[in-house]
This record gives sequence, structure tokens and C-alpha cells, in this order.
Amino acid sequence: MEKGNQIYEGKAKKVYATQDPELLIVSYKDDATAFNGQKRGAIEGKGSINNRLSNALMRYLENNGIPTHFVEELNDRDTLVKRVRIVPLEVVTRNIAAGSFAKNYGIAEGLVFSEPTIEFSYKNDALGDPLLNEYHILALHLASREEIDEIKRLAFRINELLKAFWLTCGVTLVDFKLEFGRLSDGTVILADEISPDTCRLWDSATGKKLDKDRFRWDLGGVEDAYKEIMSRVSQKLEVGR
Ligand code: TMP
Repeated sequence: MEKGNQIYEGKAKKVYATQDPELLIVSYKDDATAFNGQKRGAIEGKGSINNRLSNALMRYLENNGIPTHFVEELNDRDTLVKRVRIVPLEVVTRNIAAGSFAKNYGIAEGLVFSEPTIEFSYKNDALGDPLLNEYHILALHLASREEIDEIKRLAFRINELLKAFWLTCGVTLVDFKLEFGRLSDGTVILADEISPDTCRLWDSATGKKLDKDRFRWDLGGVEDAYKEIMSRVSQKLEVGR
């Protein structure tokens, strides 16, 4: 399958049409942004790591009954995916307080929740991705009641599967952001990516941050953290070279 016209460029990926109207190619960039694009930079090797890592995790989820957009890894940066219409929601599931949760509610990072939480933001850069509750989602016609319920069911199931997987890598899954899309028949499936850009991953033994927070907060060792995560995952799952 070959790249056709570029149909979209996001902050971390480009999307191309293919000869098949039901399939797209996503191409992962090394570009990194934070704080709604106010901080910009690059993380050398990130595109290739996130592509291969996300694909390995999506294959693992598919094998465990989660429908995803993943079709085939084409090379170290490019992947063939099912075409979806993205549901304009950022779906964040959390196991431990960190990031905006810790900030908004005035607590230190590290509170372990007795049950995972979920929250939605409106995927809209111009508005700064504002938080939404389920009534707001319905009022704005961003998703139906049935879709919201399905998205929550999938997100919590994905959390259980990913938490268990990361534990085998000596990594604690703190929180993560998912995006979902609709196939042409309306079925909701997992889309976008799962990577250290979109997850908080802490070393289980030391608590060291092994994710994009190192870039967001200038903690240093950004490339090494992505490589460390890749190396741990490749000992557990088949990853592309
Ligand atoms: P937050 O604590 O800043 O709200 O982030 C929650 C999770 O979502 C964290 O794992 C990072 C991820 N995330 C994204 O993938 N994209 C974003 O634009 C933001 C703000 C967070």
C-alpha cells in the first residue's frame, strides 16, 4: 500500500490517503509539543519508537478482544490503519494522581486511587481541549449515550489489560489518553496511538518517570526514557525493527 495525498498533519503524526478508501497511512514524527503547542521541540527517534510501540500494544489489545484501527506496520515510521471518523474526545483514564488531576485538585502526585477514574476533554486545540462531562458531550452532539457507554467500557477494559502488561515490564501505568473513532458502519474502535507521549509510565521500583513528562518539565534524559520503555516492551511483545 502506498501513500497518497496527505490529508492531515497533527502535532506528532501525518495522515495520508491510500488507494483503498477504507484505509489510511499514519506517519509518526519526532516532533514533540506540550501545553497545547506552546512548547515545541523534537525527541530524536521518537517517531519510530512510538510507531512500533503503539502497534505492539494495539496487537496485544486486539488479541484480548479490543477492536483497534491497527492493520499493518509498513516500516519503522508508517502504519496502515482503518479509516475512522475520530470522536472529538480525549479520554483520560487514571490509576494514580498526577499531571492536571494533581494540579486541579491541589494534591501531590502519587495518590493511588481505589478505583480508576475517567474524564473527557473536547479535542479542540483552539479552545485548549476543555474538560467535558457526559451531559456536555450529549448537548454538543459529540457522541451518543450508547457511544459514551461503549467508550467507557473499552477504556476501563484497556486500562486493566495495559496495567497488567506494563507490570510485567516493571512499569506502573499512572494514566493515559485514548482516542476512539467510528468505522463507516458506526462501530466504535480504538484509534490514535498508545505511547510514552500519551501515557504516564513510572518505573515500578524507583518511581522514575519514563514518559513525555521528561520533555514537558525539562527533566532531561528524554530519549533514554523512550529507549528504555522500548527495550522493556520488546522483551515481552513482538515489535517491528
Ligand atoms: P494530564 O494529567 O495533563 O491531563 O494528562 C493525562 C494523560 O493524558 C497523560 O498520560 C498525558 C496524556 N495527554 C495526552 O496524551 N495529550 C494531551 O494533550 C494531554 C494534555 C495529555
